[in-house]
Amino acid sequence: MPNSYLNRRHFIHALAAGTFTATLPHSLFAKPHPSILKKIIPSSGEEIPALGIGSWINFNVGRDPALRQSRTKVLKAFFEGGGAMVDSSPMYGSSEEVIGHMLKELGYPKKLFGATKVWTNFEDQGLSQIKQSMKLWGVKKFELLQVHNLVAWQAHLKLLQSLKKEGLVRYIGITTSHGRRHDDFLEIMKSEPLDFVQLTYNIENRAAEKKLLPFAKDKGIAVIANRPFSRGHLIDRYGSHPLPGFAKEIHCTNWPQFLLKFIISHPALTVAIPATSQVEHVKENLSAGFGPMPDMKMRAEMAAYCASL
Ligand SMILES: NC(=O)c1ccc[n+]([C@@H]2O[C@H](COP(=O)([O-])OP(=O)(O)OC[C@H]3O[C@@H](n4cnc5c(N)ncnc54)[C@H](OP(=O)(O)O)[C@@H]3O)[C@@H](O)[C@H]2O)c1
Repeated sequence: MPNSYLNRRHFIHALAAGTFTATLPHSLFAKPHPSILKKIIPSSGEEIPALGIGSWINFNVGRDPALRQSRTKVLKAFFEGGGAMVDSSPMYGSSEEVIGHMLKELGYPKKLFGATKVWTNFEDQGLSQIKQSMKLWGVKKFELLQVHNLVAWQAHLKLLQSLKKEGLVRYIGITTSHGRRHDDFLEIMKSEPLDFVQLTYNIENRAAEKKLLPFAKDKGIAVIANRPFSRGHLIDRYGSHPLPGFAKEIHCTNWPQFLLKFIISHPALTVAIPATSQVEHVKENLSAGFGPMPDMKMRAEMAAYCASL
């Protein structure tokens, strides 16, 4: 039997026995998780569930009552299952208004970690856009405001910093989903005081591992992984193949769990935000936050297995 398997088994047993806590960094590997895996936001030390929910297409359902009701069930299952971060943007059509409707229906759950973005080329319209987002969500402040895709980032980041001082937002950050922006992104991470960055990271798109994730870990910036399923393509591509035998060791019984455990087990990763329109899927996605997580060796095997399909 290869050493990696022995080591892994030893590792998992040690996890179960709780004997690794003294030697490992303050991270997901410290103990098994009876509740959803939580990560630390480095700038504050606050804990946050490692699985959130995106809202780009899934919550952009306009005024259709049946669709609004079905998405409300998704959000209800999300909070009941231990989720907190809801990520949106003024770019996502009716999503912010639909989120506001759903939050009202659900009585504004205390667990909500509301994350939206500023997205306008007009530097002087950032504030009015953020106020409009607050109105649409029905909230007086956001947990996180991000500059969407680095649009007019200099002016908007200044604004976000001043809103943070005023207490209208607790954390600020920047987002991208394009590898070609990684160099610019890194420069901003180096020069600006950021609590969070959001970037694309999944088992097939690992470009962030080169510089962005190590830098975020060193500087103490929380990381949100968008497009965890590459807009659903990864599930379509791998779904007809069996999971590898070793998936049992991390309690994976389906592909969404496997793909999400890969992401949230990265030591620099804070929250993955899969988007879904279905209650069964949100439950499946949240279930990735439970049970043992892969160690670095197993993560490499997970990526190699997917690359071989
Ligand atoms: N620059 C940026 O700031 C930026 C860029 C991209 C994305 N984002 C954020 O990241 C979020 C996530 O990215 P994304 O929406 O592009 O795609 P994604 O989360 O990678 O994939 C969403 C797709 O996966 C499917 N899915 C979800 N859970 C599933 C499950 N358990 N089983 C089978 N299918 C499942 C969904 O279909 P069903 O509805 O049928 O479940 C949907 O088609 C966005 O919604 C947005 O909030 C931000």
